[in-house]
Amino acid sequence: MLADPVRGPVTEAPALLAHPKMYAFVGCLVAALACSSIVEAADPVPVTVYYESLCPDSIKFYINQLFPVMQVANLSTHIDLNLVVYGKSTHEKLENGSWAFTCHHGERECYGNKVQACAMSEMTSKNERLAYLNCLLKGMLANRNIVYPTNECAEQVNIAEKAQIIECANGTKGDDLLAQMGERTQKFMAKLTSVPTVVFNNAFDAKDQSQAQTNFKGVLCKYIPDPKPAECMGSGAASLSTSLFIVLAAISLFFSQ
Ligand SMILES: *[C@@H]1O[C@H](CO)[C@@H](O)[C@H](O)[C@H]1NC(C)=O
Ligand SMILES: *[C@@H]1O[C@H](CO)[C@@H](O)[C@H](O)[C@H]1NC(C)=O
Ligand SMILES: *[C@@H]1O[C@H](CO)[C@@H](O)[C@H](O)[C@H]1NC(C)=O
Repeated sequence: MLADPVRGPVTEAPALLAHPKMYAFVGCLVAALACSSIVEAADPVPVTVYYESLCPDSIKFYINQLFPVMQVANLSTHIDLNLVVYGKSTHEKLENGSWAFTCHHGERECYGNKVQACAMSEMTSKNERLAYLNCLLKGMLANRNIVYPTNECAEQVNIAEKAQIIECANGTKGDDLLAQMGERTQKFMAKLTSVPTVVFNNAFDAKDQSQAQTNFKGVLCKYIPDPKPAECMGSGAASLSTSLFIVLAAISLFFSQ
């Protein structure tokens, strides 16, 4: 939705608007200001994370990189997040119709993957879902000997769907959801080479993948279109066009006084 520059807030400066370049420029500025005030970004960056519930690198990526960025509203509105919890597992359909899984870090990881897949499917609040996963992953980093902190985290985050998640994770629904995670992973890559694998804009890039492990925000900011949120400044991703935009906007404001 472009604001009409003629009827916009700058009609008091008709002489300046007579110049066609200035005209287009003020129009751009008005449109950009309007866009920065809307809540959901029109074109969020698709971010897909292929990970495993017991993989130490996956846990570190989630709790140190992804989750903190998702807590910043001005950044999370720019992310279309897809979490695929499966990693280097395998699955096969048995003759009796059941799924059989072999997980990278053993049986408990299969269960952890199912709990997370079930949480993604059962929980309606995105923020609670992200907080629940954060608690689960953190719990396994703190104590790798427990089965899985399904209950403890449900209580800690105070989620309403606790019973559904437990039922799902121990039942056929959990199996079906984990098998779907497997299909999505294998469609992306027959065998993952590293876990977690982080993909921006639906296109794997080895450099992004490696940088995202320690500077997820910086890689994300590279993909957020201009004008980038203030939170991207200083992350090494502020583009020349953003700086140019700010300078030109300042000049424009000066002339419109
Ligand atoms: C299917 O077979 C597997 C392996 O023999 C077994 O563990 C599983 O419980 C069976 N599923 C059903 C629904 O009978
Ligand atoms: C669900 O499965 C987990 C992992 O196998 C097990 O430890 C737990 O006791 C089961 N929970 C219920 C309610 O059956
Ligand atoms: C979000 O970004 C806008 C524009 O850069 C800024 O004005 C606003 O203060 C930011 N909001 C928060 C909560 O940081």
